[in-house]
Amino acid sequence: MAALLWLLILSAFHAVTLAQQRQFNITLGSSLTPTANSSWFSPSRRFAFGFYEQTNGYAVGILIVGMPKKTAVWTANRNSPVVPSNAVLLLTNDGRLIVQVGGQEITVVNLSGQVIASASMLDTGNFVLYNSDHSIIWQSFDNPTNTLLPGQHISAGQELFSSASVADDSYGIFRLKMQDDGNLVQYPVNTPDTAPYAYYSTRTSRVGNTVTLNLDDDGLLYLHNSTKRLRNLTRGGYPRERTIIYMMKIDADGIFRVYSHSLNQQNSSVIWSSTNDGCNPIGLCGLNGFCTNIDDQAKCLCLPGFDFVMPGNWSAGCERNFTAETCRLKESTSKYYAMRTVENTGWEDSTYVVLAGTTKED
Ligand SMILES: *[C@@H]1O[C@H](CO)[C@@H](O)[C@H](O)[C@H]1NC(C)=O
Ligand SMILES: *[C@@H]1O[C@H](CO)[C@@H](O)[C@H](O)[C@H]1NC(C)=O
Ligand SMILES: *[C@@H]1O[C@H](CO)[C@@H](O)[C@H](O)[C@H]1NC(C)=O
Ligand SMILES: *[C@@H]1O[C@H](CO)[C@@H](O)[C@H](O)[C@H]1NC(C)=O
Ligand SMILES: *[C@@H]1O[C@H](CO)[C@@H](O)[C@H](O)[C@H]1NC(C)=O
Ligand SMILES: *[C@@H]1O[C@H](CO)[C@@H](O)[C@H](O)[C@H]1NC(C)=O
Ligand SMILES: *[C@@H]1O[C@H](CO)[C@@H](O)[C@H](O)[C@H]1NC(C)=O
Ligand SMILES: *[C@@H]1O[C@H](CO)[C@@H](O)[C@H](O)[C@H]1NC(C)=O
Repeated sequence: MAALLWLLILSAFHAVTLAQQRQFNITLGSSLTPTANSSWFSPSRRFAFGFYEQTNGYAVGILIVGMPKKTAVWTANRNSPVVPSNAVLLLTNDGRLIVQVGGQEITVVNLSGQVIASASMLDTGNFVLYNSDHSIIWQSFDNPTNTLLPGQHISAGQELFSSASVADDSYGIFRLKMQDDGNLVQYPVNTPDTAPYAYYSTRTSRVGNTVTLNLDDDGLLYLHNSTKRLRNLTRGGYPRERTIIYMMKIDADGIFRVYSHSLNQQNSSVIWSSTNDGCNPIGLCGLNGFCTNIDDQAKCLCLPGFDFVMPGNWSAGCERNFTAETCRLKESTSKYYAMRTVENTGWEDSTYVVLAGTTKED
């Protein structure tokens, strides 16, 4: 009985493997759904393009296959809501890549009128769309979201945006920009590209406007202008193996890290991090909050007398939990206001400027 069961499982597995091999060249009319046939795989099954689970639904993106924790390296439509399990992703017969939800169509990749003839999920992690001449008309490597893979680069003027949280790949509150002046800089979102808002920088400005950020397949992260390697951020020299995938990602906490993923052991580790201080990113805590490291974990707290505006959302900041008295009640105010010292607190000079619009008053 057990042997029969094994045979059934094995043959089912075999059939699935064959089906996936046939999907290498993704042809017009192909479709995916979140629950069955949810992905198009790369030839050696390192990467998959398709639906993946988020907090309240599904997103479309590219995943590293087989990791126990969902590891997306690219996500479509990060400012659109997630889709339900009855959604269908379709490479239409007229050459568009769309998601259908109910009667609605969501464009996955906007090609401004160009027509897709076929698509491929490559073993590098690059998802590519071709026209009828088999020329590339769009590739995920040119449109990074929060991750850089070996062979991909971030060009001058491009930026990566962090995710909202570990379980939600919509836009978060931090960005990493490869500036035109050659400097690689981190800022909170919705701030100008100026020094007071920067919380990380390679200090490589004025090295030219052709600088790119690159990752090698041995974990070496570096800045390069079209002729020369300018600055190594990591040391590299990690094993080059087909079963190990390195990637750089700006995480939801605003820190960017280089990861090593082992496809055989199905585990991951951080091999380099832009800072070891979780309180370093500007804007983590929001108005009236402050950051503190407790057991090496960054944590936001509210000033005494203040409570979180949205418990669980640090960046929304804190608000007074009492009603402010006016000057007319002179004699009684002193018993409501007490000056207190907050120990070991670092203040971000520009927090009030950055978040001026979000002050909440009752
Ligand atoms: C998955 O897709 C393949 C090819 O498009 C199709 O033949 C198969 O029936 C689909 N399976 C399911 C469960 O939808
Ligand atoms: C696609 O991009 C073009 C130009 O970049 C823009 O005009 C158009 O509105 C976009 N379409 C969609 C559906 O986003
Ligand atoms: C993939 O599709 C293209 C059409 O865009 C075709 O020219 C090519 O031969 C196909 N490759 C394979 C391996 O089927
Ligand atoms: C690249 O950097 C080197 C050293 O700073 C410089 O000599 C060279 O002109 C730069 N190349 C370009 C294309 O900017
Ligand atoms: C960066 O590292 C590579 C590989 O270890 C080395 O060849 C190169 O000289 C280094 N470049 C700089 C600018 O340190
Ligand atoms: C995976 O786990 C093994 C055994 O614990 C460890 O030796 C290896 O370094 C880990 N690999 C990664 C990429 O984390
Ligand atoms: C305000 O918060 C403080 C702690 O931060 C708490 O001790 C106090 O009871 C709260 N007051 C009100 C009115 O909720
Ligand atoms: C957290 O608060 C910020 C600032 O008010 C807001 O922009 C963001 O949407 C909130 N995030 C969530 C998940 O509610």
